[in-house]
Amino acid sequence: MYETVADHESAMRAAREAAGRAYAPYSGFNVGAALVTGGGALYAGCNVENASYGLSMCAERNAVGAMVLAGGDRRIEFVAVHSPQVAPCLPCGACRQVLKEFGCRAVVVEERGRLRAYSFEEILPNAFGPEDLRS
Ligand code: THU
Repeated sequence: MYETVADHESAMRAAREAAGRAYAPYSGFNVGAALVTGGGALYAGCNVENASYGLSMCAERNAVGAMVLAGGDRRIEFVAVHSPQVAPCLPCGACRQVLKEFGCRAVVVEERGRLRAYSFEEILPNAFGPEDLRS
């Protein structure tokens, strides 16, 4: 899924649409994520579970995979995350680390009926990242 957008509302719409395609027969917990790059491209992902539970993949990391595969700008401005089961739906720890890899600046979630943007530093403070390997 790929289109050009810039704002939080459009990205959240894409995240909701992606959540509708989740494959989550084991947890029953659907998640959709839509990230926007510095260049304004949008990539979405949903969670995809597996009968071998540990192989399940989160929506956010599937969106990152779509971005990398597309071969364009890989700087993530923000990611919007939606689950019909819970709000706010914030990324798990593993996804936070993967988003950090591509410089994600903010995470947008639904909170008390509206959108809220958390700065990345708020949700993954003092993180280890690619710059630490270059010092
Ligand atoms: N899940 C995500 O897709 N993203 C998150 O950040 C939290 C968890 C998925 C993984 C699993 O398929 C289901 O939600 C329940 O953990």
